[in-house]
Amino acid sequence: MKIIWSGRSHNYSQKDINYLTKIIKTADPLTQGHYLKSFESIFSKYIQKNNVFAVSSAAAALEIISLLLRLKKKDEVIIPAHTYCASAIPFARNGAKIVWGDIDVNTRVVDINDIKKKITSKTKAIVIVHLYGFACDFRKIIPLCKKKKIKIIEDCAQSLGAEIGTKKVGTLGDFSCYSFHAQKNITTLGEGGMVYVKNSDLAAKVPGLRHNGHCNFKFKRKNYWSPAMGNLDMDIENTWPYKFTLSEIQCGAGIVMMKKLDKLNNLRIKRAERFINYLKNFEELKFNSSFKSKKHVYHLVSASYTPSKKVNRDDLMQILYNRYSIKCAVQYYPLYKYSLFKKMGFGKHSCPNTEKFYNNMISFPFHVWMTNKQFNYMIASVKKVLIYLRKYR
Ligand SMILES: Cc1ncc(COP(=O)(O)O)c(C=O)c1O
Repeated sequence: MKIIWSGRSHNYSQKDINYLTKIIKTADPLTQGHYLKSFESIFSKYIQKNNVFAVSSAAAALEIISLLLRLKKKDEVIIPAHTYCASAIPFARNGAKIVWGDIDVNTRVVDINDIKKKITSKTKAIVIVHLYGFACDFRKIIPLCKKKKIKIIEDCAQSLGAEIGTKKVGTLGDFSCYSFHAQKNITTLGEGGMVYVKNSDLAAKVPGLRHNGHCNFKFKRKNYWSPAMGNLDMDIENTWPYKFTLSEIQCGAGIVMMKKLDKLNNLRIKRAERFINYLKNFEELKFNSSFKSKKHVYHLVSASYTPSKKVNRDDLMQILYNRYSIKCAVQYYPLYKYSLFKKMGFGKHSCPNTEKFYNNMISFPFHVWMTNKQFNYMIASVKKVLIYLRKYR
């Protein structure tokens, strides 16, 4: 048996494929049509918020958010160093000074106490990343941010469906982004995203910002004009817009996947809980501990392996690969270590937990199309390797 690190999170059923084929054959227009409206409306109902807009990726959503923040030179944005690079790039591109946030040793997601220490009079925004599908409970800093006029951005690229209390992640802050990239809990044919903007005046700018600035002319159109782009004005208040639209077929994929999201997430939760419980007696393997009474949707399952003098995380990974053909990953290279961030002036940091976790962390393959047989093989193999390594600890 072989367990790969899959580049797709789930499969489409024949029924889904039939639905998508119908869109390919009949949709007119092929972009920006009624499938877009329908996808956005289903998504809006799911997270119980208006002002959601489909875009081409979560990175695109974050670009739009960073434009809406109207960042000025010297504005600071606090972003965890332990996340995927897309959580930070848009803010750096739009002129912010990035202040790297550390993670909590146990949950491995943002540490609210660390964030509090890093807030200054120049802090314009804080990015909360619900990494691994974990719902980070950041409710305690909301009043502080309100008082200091600091905007909260939730990066929910990995966590659609996770909940804090009774609310879906992405609905407590001022802005949020979601990803439908190939490896996320649901995908719109490999790429896609959604942006939520709480303030309705700012939200009104998103359709233009994602579509080359197109917006209605102030004057009334003549009814014999064709609905071509020449019919639209172009102005998003002195801002150069983007082209971040999602095609009708991708929106169709979003519609079919939204119907399955909870079922797929529940399978992830069930498997993750079984995995963690099955290995609970191996204290050298510490899974990310969850915030109590929150719903986590386990986009990934990761843990830290406490090294001894003789064995470490790399031994665990290598044996899993060599003997059992199970391919794991190390995530995420602390962002301040990347040449790009260093060269652009963002190499300074104070993130000891991020550093330590990166050196010892292991992420297990967790694509939802893995069969039960494969999943059982994986967790049994991990157990065997842990037992084997104990002889050398
Ligand atoms: C935490 C996080 N934020 C943002 C992104 C960007 O998502 P997308 O690939 O849709 O741009 C990702 C993608 O891996 C991610 O994991």
